[in-house]
Amino acid sequence: MKKEKLLKLLNQMTLEEKVGQLIQIADIDTTTGPVKKLNLSSEMLFHVGSILNVVGSEKIRKIQKEYLSRNRLKIPLLFMADIINGYRTVFPIPIAQGCSWNPKVVYDCTKVSIQEAEAAGTNVNFSPMVDLVRDSRWGRVMESIGGEDPYLGKVFAKTMIEAYQGKDISKLGNAAACVKHFAAYGAVEGGRDYNTVDMSEREFRQYYLPAYQAAIEKGAEMIMTSFNTINGIPATVNSWLLRKVLREELGFQGVVISDYSAIEETIAHGVSKDKKEAAYKAIMAGVDIDMMSNVYANHLKELVEEGKVPERILDESVWRVLTLKNKLGLFENPYGNSNKEREMKILKSKKNLQIARETTSETFVLLKNEKEVLPLKKNNKIALIGPYADNIAILGSWSMFSDKSKILTLKEVLESRIGCENVLYAKGSEILKQKEINEILEAEGIDSIQMENEEAKEKEYLKEAVEKAKQADIIILAIGEHYRQSGEACSRANIEISEIQRNLLKELTKLNKKIITILFNGRPLVLKEVEEKSDALLEVWFPGTEGANAILDVILGDVNPSGKLTMSFPQATGQCPIYYNHYNTGRPHINNVRYVSRYQDIPTESYYPFGYGLSYSKFEYSDLKISSNHIKEDLPITVSISVKNNSKIAGKEVIQLYIQDLVGSCVRPVKELKGFKKEYFEPWEEKEITFQITIDMLKFWNEKLEYKAESGEFKVFVGPNSKDTKECRFEFINS
Ligand code: NOJ
Repeated sequence: MKKEKLLKLLNQMTLEEKVGQLIQIADIDTTTGPVKKLNLSSEMLFHVGSILNVVGSEKIRKIQKEYLSRNRLKIPLLFMADIINGYRTVFPIPIAQGCSWNPKVVYDCTKVSIQEAEAAGTNVNFSPMVDLVRDSRWGRVMESIGGEDPYLGKVFAKTMIEAYQGKDISKLGNAAACVKHFAAYGAVEGGRDYNTVDMSEREFRQYYLPAYQAAIEKGAEMIMTSFNTINGIPATVNSWLLRKVLREELGFQGVVISDYSAIEETIAHGVSKDKKEAAYKAIMAGVDIDMMSNVYANHLKELVEEGKVPERILDESVWRVLTLKNKLGLFENPYGNSNKEREMKILKSKKNLQIARETTSETFVLLKNEKEVLPLKKNNKIALIGPYADNIAILGSWSMFSDKSKILTLKEVLESRIGCENVLYAKGSEILKQKEINEILEAEGIDSIQMENEEAKEKEYLKEAVEKAKQADIIILAIGEHYRQSGEACSRANIEISEIQRNLLKELTKLNKKIITILFNGRPLVLKEVEEKSDALLEVWFPGTEGANAILDVILGDVNPSGKLTMSFPQATGQCPIYYNHYNTGRPHINNVRYVSRYQDIPTESYYPFGYGLSYSKFEYSDLKISSNHIKEDLPITVSISVKNNSKIAGKEVIQLYIQDLVGSCVRPVKELKGFKKEYFEPWEEKEITFQITIDMLKFWNEKLEYKAESGEFKVFVGPNSKDTKECRFEFINS
C-alpha cells in the first residue's frame, strides 16, 4: 500500500481503533484465560492489533478471517511468536549457537527456524535476544547469543537480523525480528530474574548497548523493552532510554513493544500509582504496543480525550504499527505467504534436520580430553549411563512448538551406530530429587508429585549403573540441568550439578574406568568436581532435535569439536558475575600477596576462560608479527600469527584477537575481543592468520562520555582463548 493511502487509513481511524492497534493479546478466543483476564470488551477485541504465540497456518488463517470480517477498516492482525531456537525443528539454545563462533552456523539455525515459523503464519519473531550476560545465576543466559562479549553480541545480532528479515520482510521465508530486551536485562542484580539494574552510563554504552545498536543498524523492525529498572526507572517507562538513546541517538524508527505485562508492572515497581499512570508513562516514553496488560486498552483513549497524551503521540505509535503491517505486505495479503500445503512441505523437509545435525555439533565445547580419550575407538563396549542417556528433554525451555516425535535419544543413536550388543544402558539417577522438582513445579502452580520409596529407587538405579559399568570398557555419562532449571524465571543461587548426579559420578569413579561426561545445561556451571572425576568433558548445552546424532558424531570422531566458550565458567557460584573483559583494579591479583583483589578461598581467575575450547587437532601458535609499532588515523596496521595443526586430524580453530588500552582517561578493560577468525586446517597444515587493526577498534567512552580513541600504548593479544595468548604492542598518536 502506498504511503498516502496508509495515511488516509490512519486519518479514518477512531480513537478506539487507534488504541486497538497498540494492544497485543495471547489469543482472540474470548473463552480462554488471557482475554478473560484482560477483561477486554468484545468491541475492543476486534480492534486489537496483534496476537502473541498463536501459530499454525490454518489456525492463523481462521482467526485472521474472522477478525477481518468484524474489523471496520479491514486492518489485518499481526502474529508474533517466540521462536527462540527453532519452531518444529529445534536448534541448540542461543548461548550454544554463539559458542560455534561461526556466523554461518548462527545464520543457518536462524534461517531454518524462521522459514518454518513463517510458513506456519508467524509475521514477527521475538528474537534475537542480545542481552550481554555475565552472571550465570541468571537463568536467561541460555538465550544470549553473544554471551559476555559485546563484540560477539554485535556480530551475531547482525547475522540474526539478516537471517530473519532478509532484504524484504514480505518475501517467502522472511519475517520481522524483534530485538530484546531493551536494555541491560542481563545485568539484573544477583542474577535474580526481573531484578534491578543500576549501572553507570559509561558501562552501559561500552558493554551493553553495542549489540542492540548493531541489530538496529542492520534494520531490525522491532524492539522489546526489558522488565528491569535502569538507574531507578523501569525500562518500559524510561524516556531517556527509549526516546533519547533508542530513537534519537540510534535512530530507531520501528515498533517498540513492552515485555509481557511490563507496563502494568510499573505499578508494582512503585513508579506508577495506577494503571492510568502506567499507560501515560509508557506511551510518553515511547512504548508503542502493550503486550498482555489492559492498561492501554482501558486508559489510552481517556488520556487522549483529557489532553494529557497528545493525539500526535498516539498517532505516531499507530503509524509505526501500520507501517510494519504494510512492510509485511499484510494489507494486500493478510495471510502472508503461509498456507497449509507450504507449511507441511517445509516442516517435513529432511534438509532442516540435516542442517540441524551439522550446525549442532559445531556448538559443542570440548572442555577436557585427557590422554585423548576422545574420539572413541569404535570397538569399545560402552556403558551409557545417566538421566540424559535415554531422554528427549534436550531442547531447552523455549521449545513449545517443537515436534518431539523427531527427537532421538543418545541410547537409540548409539545402539544404531555400534550395535545394541555393545551398549550397556542404565539410567543411574534422576536429574533432580523429587523434592527439588516439586519446588520448581510449585512455583509454576503445578501440583507437586509424591514419589514413594525414592531412596530405594535411587539405590536401585545406582546399583544397576555400577553393574553395567563394570562390564564395559568405557563409561559415557550423560548428566546436567533439568530443562526447567534454565530459562526465564530460572535463577539459581547454586549452579552446581545436582547432588544425586554428582553422587552417581562418584560411585562410577570407584571403578577406575575412563569416564566421558556429556553435559546438558543452559548456563555455565561450577564444574570442578565433575571435571576432576571425568577423563573427558563435552559441553553440549541443550542441543535440540538433532542433539543425539550430533553428540555421537563428535564422540565417535566423525566430527572434530570446534566450539569455544562465550562465557567464563566460574570456580564457585560466589565468583559470579565473572567475565574476562573486566577493568583493572589498583591492586591486581598477585600470588602470595595479601592485600590484593582476590578471594581467600578460591582462585581469582575463572575455571574455564572466555574463548576456551579444545579440539581433536593440536593447534600451535607461533611467530606473532606486527606490521608497525605505530598506528595512524589513515594507516591501519596488521597483526599476523602462524597457526599450525600439529596433528593428523583435520579441524577448525577459532583464532582470537584482543586489545588492551594500557593507559586511558578512565579505567580500561584488561583485554577486549576485537576480532576472530574460524579457520579450517588440514592435518599438519600451517597458515598465517592476519588481522587488521583500525582506530575504530581503539575507541571507547572516555572521561567526558565521548566515543574516541586516545593516544597511548596498546597491547595486542592473539591466541586460542582469552587466557593463552601471545602479545605485542603498538602506539597510537592522535594527530
Ligand atoms: C516474556 C519474555 O521475557 C520475552 O522474552 C518473551 O518474548 C515474552 N514473554 C513473550 O512470550
